[in-house]
Amino acid sequence: MQNFVFHNPTKILFGKNTIPAIGAETAAFGEKVLLVYGAGSIKKSGLYERVTESLEKAGMEITEHSGVQSNPLLSHVRSGIALAKKNGCQVICAVGGGSVIDEAKAICAGSTVEHDVWKFFTGKKSIKAPLPLTTVLTLAAAGSEMNSGMVITNDETSQKFGFGNKQLFPKTSILDPSITCSVPPDYTAYGAVDAINHILEFYFTTEDPSTAVQDRIMEGLIINAMESCNKCLANPDDYAARADLMWTSTLALNGLTAAGLGKVGFPMHMMGHTLSAFYNIPHGASLSAIAPGWMRFHAPSQPARFAQFAERVFEIREGNEQEKADRGISKLTAWFTSIHAPVTLSELEIPEKDIVRIAENAVALAKVWRLKDYDTKKIEAILRVCL
Ligand code: NZQ
Ligand code: ZN
Repeated sequence: MQNFVFHNPTKILFGKNTIPAIGAETAAFGEKVLLVYGAGSIKKSGLYERVTESLEKAGMEITEHSGVQSNPLLSHVRSGIALAKKNGCQVICAVGGGSVIDEAKAICAGSTVEHDVWKFFTGKKSIKAPLPLTTVLTLAAAGSEMNSGMVITNDETSQKFGFGNKQLFPKTSILDPSITCSVPPDYTAYGAVDAINHILEFYFTTEDPSTAVQDRIMEGLIINAMESCNKCLANPDDYAARADLMWTSTLALNGLTAAGLGKVGFPMHMMGHTLSAFYNIPHGASLSAIAPGWMRFHAPSQPARFAQFAERVFEIREGNEQEKADRGISKLTAWFTSIHAPVTLSELEIPEKDIVRIAENAVALAKVWRLKDYDTKKIEAILRVCL
């Protein structure tokens, strides 16, 4: 196990009847709040009224920034920053899924500086004093509610870049699983895929062979993500299953699984982000289309690790290491298919001729993320396995 610092400062309020606390949690950071939300699911579900009522009760002056789209856009972030500056907002409250929370983080970062917010994403500027953020999570997936990352698509350059800074941890996040009962089947499934992929990225890129505690945590979370997702799809109102999936996806990317693994990377995300940037594919769907091919490409170089995954997650006992590895990948792929997540580029109608330009776009993020062993040739080779 490698040395590590684990410091997650986000306060989580989890469970039923937690929404009314958002006013007091947010008012602790100022009177003027920018309320950030998406295309309208929170108005349909009645959550909007519950949140605004709580904020108003706490004496807050609300400025609204709505219309955040899935795979949020830089142009919309910029308009949110302008609004927050114009109205002197002191705190931001995000109500939504990963896209809304990520956009809110970018607005937090950009509202206290004069330069353009994209400079944070390209590493040209570092974040020093962003506005504080509170969140009400509505979808189990990205983990943004309890981590320091944000992912934004630059709609001028078609680059979807992610960036993290410890100042971006939300101060408080409210997780009421009953709010997620209205998430449609496709995004429920994509959310589970995303959580699983966050774990797989670390599980297969760790350079440390001695990570027994983390391995068991990660394997358990993957099993739990699949089981709870199956239950949510069978019965969308199953509170226990929604709660399981919600906490699983939060734990999948809040620093816990990575602690002690040493340097880990996000190579599948690096490629998936290009698919979303080019074709506006939902994040989880981009990952289910990349993961099987990426795993098949890498299994021969780490057969023991992939065999362990197969044995412990899918109880595969027969065969040598490579055979177990292959069966484990097939089982995971079959599960993706069973929840209607795409498992190839062809299913997404991405033609082979696009592979070169996808690789050229993805390699720019590989550079920003310092994924040193990924050049365009290697990315192209993996994408061909994903076809
Ligand atoms: O916009 P609204 O109307 O709210 O609809 C959303 C959206 O259409 C809908 N939805 C959300 N909660 C709902 C609901 N519909 C009904 N009932 C509810 N309770 O679901 C759709 C998808 O929402 P979105 O926020 O886009 O999904 P997700 O949470 O999967 O977030 C995806 C974004 O997170 C980024 C991804 O790249 C992507 O841009 N990620 C952020 C990470 C981070 N900050 O650490 C890490 C992840 O790897 C990921 O990259
Ligand atoms: Zn993800």
